[in-house]
Amino acid sequence: MSQTLSEERQKVIDALNEARGLELNAITQYMNHHYNLAAMDYGDMAAKVKLIAIDEMRHAELFAERIEELGGQPTTAPSGKAVKGLDVNELFSSDRNLEAGAIDAYNRFLSICRENGDSTSAKLFETVIDEEQIHYNYFEIVVDHIAKLGDSYLAQIAGTPSATGIQYQGFVSRQTGAQQDG
Ligand SMILES: [Fe+2]
Ligand SMILES: [Fe+2]
Repeated sequence: MSQTLSEERQKVIDALNEARGLELNAITQYMNHHYNLAAMDYGDMAAKVKLIAIDEMRHAELFAERIEELGGQPTTAPSGKAVKGLDVNELFSSDRNLEAGAIDAYNRFLSICRENGDSTSAKLFETVIDEEQIHYNYFEIVVDHIAKLGDSYLAQIAGTPSATGIQYQGFVSRQTGAQQDG
């Protein structure tokens, strides 16, 4: 797009790009945690975190597509560095906090979209916030189980399979049975 973007449109693009940076950070974080959990032999957790990483990849793509539609340039820069070397409890607390941070940020970005008259981008944030909430709920329940049940909970997970199959639908579609494209 050659014409100068309106100030309103630029604010929306900036919000979408900030969200894309958060998604790119979440992808590297969750991929790293998926490998760590697989190495610790917590197969079921590894599989779920891998599927959540795939959801974040889809989010990163959705934000990029909307940025392109608005005439902007999707960022390739993650918002931060992956936190490594956490034990299983710290790992799930850290991921839960990452989701909480994303939900807060996306609610702010949703307001920016509405204030600047972009209901399509606002709707995109609404959809993604709902999915981050599903991720948050999973991480939160694991943190809660570890706190309340400790080793007896972890013993049930140890040795479970980490396979997710060939169809990488992501986490949310499997939890809700919803058909998702893109
Ligand atoms: Fe996401
Ligand atoms: Fe998420």
